[in-house]
Amino acid sequence: MAVVTGGSRGIGAAIAVRLAADGLTVHVVCHRALDAGRGVVKQIEANGGRATLHQADVGDEAAVERLVERVTAQDGALHVLVNNAAVIDDQLLALTSTVRWERVLRTNLTGPFLTSRAVLPVMLDQQWGRIINISSNSARTPGPGQSAYAASKGGIEALTRALAVEVGRKGIRVNCVAPGKVRTEMTAAVADRLGSDADGTRWGLPEDIGGLVAFLAGDEADYIQGQTFTVDGGRMVTRGGAARRSR
Ligand SMILES: NC(=O)c1ccc[n+]([C@@H]2O[C@H](COP(=O)([O-])OP(=O)(O)OC[C@H]3O[C@@H](n4cnc5c(N)ncnc54)[C@H](OP(=O)(O)O)[C@@H]3O)[C@@H](O)[C@H]2O)c1
Repeated sequence: MAVVTGGSRGIGAAIAVRLAADGLTVHVVCHRALDAGRGVVKQIEANGGRATLHQADVGDEAAVERLVERVTAQDGALHVLVNNAAVIDDQLLALTSTVRWERVLRTNLTGPFLTSRAVLPVMLDQQWGRIINISSNSARTPGPGQSAYAASKGGIEALTRALAVEVGRKGIRVNCVAPGKVRTEMTAAVADRLGSDADGTRWGLPEDIGGLVAFLAGDEADYIQGQTFTVDGGRMVTRGGAARRSR
């Protein structure tokens, strides 16, 4: 049984569909896009899978606790948590208000803290669990204006390692997937403007991320712990190479 935050669209929806196709009952968590969330549940059911829609703000402690109570009351277990929900709000640091900074950090970093803390008692009882955090290449190669977003993603990668150290002996694996550029609502404006970059790497599809998440969610990932995996069609190595050549 899996919980996918931000499962109403984009990468989270693709992860939810993929985990359901692998046979997991999926709890799709959305925030505002209820209709889109219903669409994801319908798609999973049309494929013969099982899914339930929930509405919760991942940055709201009480809402997260209610969510996990509902899910465990329904299924009596919770095997996989995918911390995918996030917001982006690019602005140069000098112009960034505290309110905007805190909203990004609250959703992207405090959210995964709250959800992870809420699911841990269940996973510890089971002596089995998978927590998969979604980071971003921006943690390592941020663009201008990405201070808050990059800090939140650097934070989630550190959180991944720190929690892995705490729960590794209890059968719980905590890993992280860092996508490059993926065509979703989050990136629609830049995707249309930029097209393919000079580095020649294509824009990823949400489905390009689901496969690795599904692998990390399974038994075969038992010997993988506290890692962050880049999934970007080679963009990081290509850009790194281009930067080295230009020096
Ligand atoms: N797209 C990319 O190129 C890219 C690259 C690197 C990393 N990522 C990461 O991949 C993940 C998914 O990105 P995406 O492009 O699929 O984003 P997206 O299309 O903007 O979708 C974001 C999802 O997060 C949910 N969400 C936002 N705030 C929330 C909150 N406070 N509580 C609960 N849910 C909330 C949204 O729910 P509602 O729709 O219900 O509001 C939506 O389902 C994010 O962690 C993002 O940082 C994306």
